[in-house]
Amino acid sequence: MQLPVPAGEPIYTGRGCDSPDKVNPVSALRSSLIHLNNAGSALPSTHTLSTQVDYLIRESQIGGYEAFAEYADDLHAVHAQVGALVNCPSEQVALVESATVGWDRALQAIAHDDPLEPGDRILVASSEYASNVIPLMQLANKTGAQLEFIPDGPDGDVDVEAFAGTLDERVRIVSITHAPSHNGVVNDIVGIGDALRFNGSPAWYLVDACQSAGQLPLDFSRIGCDALSATGRKFIRGPRGTGFVAASQRMLNDLEPFPLDLHSATWTGPGSYRVRSGARRFETWEASYAAILALGCAVQEILDVGIDVIHAAISARAEQLRLGLAELPGVQVRDRGKQRSGIVTATMPAPGAAAVVTQLRDAGVNASLSTADYAPIDFAEHEITEQVRLSPHTYISEDDIDQAVARLQNILQ
Ligand SMILES: Cc1ncc(COP(=O)(O)O)c(C=O)c1O
Repeated sequence: MQLPVPAGEPIYTGRGCDSPDKVNPVSALRSSLIHLNNAGSALPSTHTLSTQVDYLIRESQIGGYEAFAEYADDLHAVHAQVGALVNCPSEQVALVESATVGWDRALQAIAHDDPLEPGDRILVASSEYASNVIPLMQLANKTGAQLEFIPDGPDGDVDVEAFAGTLDERVRIVSITHAPSHNGVVNDIVGIGDALRFNGSPAWYLVDACQSAGQLPLDFSRIGCDALSATGRKFIRGPRGTGFVAASQRMLNDLEPFPLDLHSATWTGPGSYRVRSGARRFETWEASYAAILALGCAVQEILDVGIDVIHAAISARAEQLRLGLAELPGVQVRDRGKQRSGIVTATMPAPGAAAVVTQLRDAGVNASLSTADYAPIDFAEHEITEQVRLSPHTYISEDDIDQAVARLQNILQ
């Protein structure tokens, strides 16, 4: 099967630049490189890259504020493009520097405006991302609330029934990572949202869609969460330093981000200020507009191709990879869950996962090393200390996957 190639796929040729090779050293390598680290950071399309570079050039020609004014319409459209990606009104989208910043801003607002008390409960999935669990532990330690891990179900994804069974009015925050970065699981974020609503829970519901945005369909309205955060650089194929958070109407009505600045609020008089309407109250004044414009471009390419098409293509490559890996002696595919993401993980025989990642890179295959510090509870439960993570995208062909498996086989011989 030939995979769909998003619009503008040919390599960057340096439009507007004197020295294209300096701008995009990857372009020269793309023909031989098999990039299977899209869960780390994907390769941008030509159009996304040239959008970012051209904007930077324009800033250098006429000034940053003047370039902003020139591109104002396109820049304002990015909130709507991201909103369309996650089915959320554009006023409920904030553009920030990373998934972590988006998620943190939501948590800061909760901690500041709806403080937790001793005995309150915070529930997270066992494979929750470490950067979410660490601040929740901080919050629990400071307030006397307790952090609890929701058990996995028999398939290895979050157990929605067990979750529903443990809900009471003391549950104040629920945080679920949709597609964890270190296993192939896709957690049932809609089921968790339904359970919260069915039980009339007052809990704030945070969804980390960092690894799912751009590879899986996301429907913010249907999930019914209070905040959905994601990064631009992974499956969306946007630039580094971009991210977003979509916020619920309840969050916008009831919470005030802390601290505010002169973008997120207006100083109206001595001792008074007015908070900005909509989710842009979660943004701050300064941003890389070159990166934001390029994020809009990457998102538009997804909207043009269709997320269902992209999802099918990534899933097909990931399954091909799992089958190929399972054939190699001593390699054990570790992915689980009823539905699997485009993240493929496997433990390795000698020379071990770390050496395999290095040797794969030398052989022209980008993979990444997945270690226990990203999700220590989940790793311990499955008795894994480290594994290799491989994550294809639409620009990876069937042949690329076969090549990658063959090169791994060589390393393991
Ligand atoms: C599941 C998950 N959540 C959050 C993050 C953090 O994203 P960022 O580095 O954009 O803050 C990552 C990064 O790898 C991730 O995999």
